[in-house]
Amino acid sequence: MHPETLLVSAARPAKEVDAPVNEPVHLTSTFVGWEAGGGADRRVYGRMSNPSWDGPEELLAALEGVPDPQATPALLFSSGMAAIAAALHLVPVGSRVIAPQHAYNGLTSLLESMGDSGRLSVDQVDITDTVAVVGALEGASILWLESPTNPMLEVADLPALTGAAHAAGALVIVDNTFATPLVQRPLDLGADVVVHSVTKYLAGHSDVVMGAAVTADPELQARLHAHRTLHGAIAGPMEAFLALRGMRTLALRLERSQANAAELARRAETARREGTLPIAAVRYPGLAGHPQHALAARQMHGGFGSVLTVEVAAGSGEDGTEPAEDASAAAADAAVRALRLWVPATSLGGVESLVERRRRFAAEPRTVPAGLLRLSCGIEHVDDLWDDLEQALRAAAAGNRAHR
Ligand SMILES: Cc1ncc(COP(=O)(O)O)c(C=O)c1O
Repeated sequence: MHPETLLVSAARPAKEVDAPVNEPVHLTSTFVGWEAGGGADRRVYGRMSNPSWDGPEELLAALEGVPDPQATPALLFSSGMAAIAAALHLVPVGSRVIAPQHAYNGLTSLLESMGDSGRLSVDQVDITDTVAVVGALEGASILWLESPTNPMLEVADLPALTGAAHAAGALVIVDNTFATPLVQRPLDLGADVVVHSVTKYLAGHSDVVMGAAVTADPELQARLHAHRTLHGAIAGPMEAFLALRGMRTLALRLERSQANAAELARRAETARREGTLPIAAVRYPGLAGHPQHALAARQMHGGFGSVLTVEVAAGSGEDGTEPAEDASAAAADAAVRALRLWVPATSLGGVESLVERRRRFAAEPRTVPAGLLRLSCGIEHVDDLWDDLEQALRAAAAGNRAHR
């Protein structure tokens, strides 16, 4: 079945007279049982299993291309970070991890803390430089990839890098949050484990925090499952229900939000080129001018994601010098304050469009431009989104002129 159909039809109770159409929420902490211990196939206790997890876990495994989703379902976690932490614990103490220099800053901070405590050693690489990444792999236990990266939207050559990592004996873990399995399936491209912030597109309504790990390897799946049970970062049954309900409309939401992102990127890039708005750069893998556009077109299908970035230009100084970092940050902040429709908030992947200047976080790398705005496109009408963005950028430019 096509993913669009799976999303709607999978994970429902058997079609029997008077059966509910949706799986009920199983609000229970424990399950009735008599025999000592209980077998691996028994529910036992709410930290080990819950029927409300089963549907979304099998569905997500099927979407990511796991051949037997019933035998190796995805694993829901309490957050994307919990899934990431579980995946990083697949390798022994002292292992070396190769990670992107630009990635979700929660991952970067966790790796830093695991590095400081001696749990792991970490080397950061430019994941667009395939030769450099391959060169760094010797002795590594994990190659961690995000593609596209948050927030720089860099694209990694997944088939080339997974092949090289396996040859070097490293596991490949891909954060597929930005692309979603409808656009990119890293397991098909050789990855061992995929992680998601379900919080974002999968749940899709900014009302759930949840994560997931997916693998087709039964041994890795069993170890991730044991980690979840013992560390306890489980998903609540109500959240699992909400995530599944959100996934029912993933294909439709994504169709609209990706179309919005592509159109906004096109309009912003035109305005940058023509100098009609204060824009220094537009990043979106779907733009022909994106440095990895051809690669993205090869490994992403049906779109290039729903996030783009716009770097706000502060205007050059009197003498034509480059604007200072603070001036770019101030211009970007002024644009955010002038927005009426876009919501200034962290996160992405919901039906409502969100905007954020990523460098407002101290954990964001200095190589992310200070004036960069990350735009997470929702499903509103594209003209309303553009009109709001345009007036806000004009207001920022006017404020900029008034200050000089
Ligand atoms: C790419 C990516 N991965 C993982 C996470 C972490 O997910 P969560 O916030 O659900 O813990 C985020 C959160 O923004 C993210 O953007």
